[in-house]
Amino acid sequence: MKNILVTGGAGYIGSHIVRELEESGFRAIAYDNLSAGHEWAVLSGRLFVGNIQDTGRLRAVFDYNSIDAVMHMAAHIVVPESLEKPLQYYSNNVLGTLTLLNIMKEFGVNKFIFSSTAAVYGIPEVIPVAEDSSLRPINPYGQSKAMAERILQDICRAEDFRYVTLRYFNAAGADPLTRIGEGKEHATHLITQCLRTAAGTKPALKVYGTDYPTFDGTCIRDYIHVNDLSSAHTEALKYLLNGGASDTFNCGYNQGYSVREVIHAVKQVTGADFPVQYVNRRPGDPPILIADSTKIKKKLGWAPQFNDLHTIIKTAWDWEQKRLAKHKFCRYDGGLFNKS
Ligand SMILES: NC(=O)c1ccc[n+]([C@@H]2O[C@H](COP(=O)([O-])OP(=O)(O)OC[C@H]3O[C@@H](n4cnc5c(N)ncnc54)[C@H](O)[C@@H]3O)[C@@H](O)[C@H]2O)c1
Repeated sequence: MKNILVTGGAGYIGSHIVRELEESGFRAIAYDNLSAGHEWAVLSGRLFVGNIQDTGRLRAVFDYNSIDAVMHMAAHIVVPESLEKPLQYYSNNVLGTLTLLNIMKEFGVNKFIFSSTAAVYGIPEVIPVAEDSSLRPINPYGQSKAMAERILQDICRAEDFRYVTLRYFNAAGADPLTRIGEGKEHATHLITQCLRTAAGTKPALKVYGTDYPTFDGTCIRDYIHVNDLSSAHTEALKYLLNGGASDTFNCGYNQGYSVREVIHAVKQVTGADFPVQYVNRRPGDPPILIADSTKIKKKLGWAPQFNDLHTIIKTAWDWEQKRLAKHKFCRYDGGLFNKS
């Protein structure tokens, strides 16, 4: 059985990937400092708590486990925060990646799957955006991922090292069995924000900008269900294990929804009306990001199963209600959902 190290494996996307790996016959080893992740989110497989910049701790994990490939998800992820704290973002996202790559080299591990983002494209000239479009990120978060992508290309040219970069569009939804989902109290993603407002735990949903050059003035994004994102990782892993060459793939559905459309859909799915507050644009948000996902379907045989906005919202809503119900009765801590 192949051992796969998943950094950020206790986070929102990482925990779904750990679950998917374990259910697909791999052994997942999560590595996370729990700064934004949760112990309960690692349903099966091992969890090692540590920082990706902690060389000694990482070395111990590589020493203890015979790692065959690495999926690297540990990062800071909030675009507006990256504009306020660029140093923190470059340190964690670029330096963290470098530390990990150095340890991999030390242990002769040469297969790497990297969590990148649509934010590397900045404001694309052509929509849907394809992988060969130019990279012109407009915020430090996107820039930190573009830098890491560049590092991977250079290592691959010089050494026996192969990688797959997956550029995620907007991850959303939750495990349909409601075992795991977005667990961060301060999650910033639109669908989670809408659902928490619908549930009454936030007073109003803020919409940043209604004057974008889109059909209804609000930003348009391509929302991908977290389980489809997880299956993209297992396909990428099999591709690398079978000798596939380094490559980069978009992960999205070729389909965009405006903020207003998402709000409308959330109101339909939840049956709850909720207040919406329209405020000025915030820096760092491109108007439209929609994936051209032709390449990943053709080359990796990726076949999404949850490509429907209402399904995405419904799975997230079911999870959110479970999360809130537990929250009501218990303190929200590491032991709360543990393996239940
Ligand atoms: N959520 C999205 O829509 C989206 C879109 C594009 C790309 N991504 C990428 O996907 C990855 C996972 O994102 P997510 O939404 O699950 O976020 P998340 O914050 O839930 O997960 C990140 C995890 O990494 C851990 N982490 C952060 N810094 C660490 C460090 N120094 N050492 C060890 N662990 C550390 C956190 O504790 C957390 O569990 C990130 O790399 C992010 O850039 C996410």
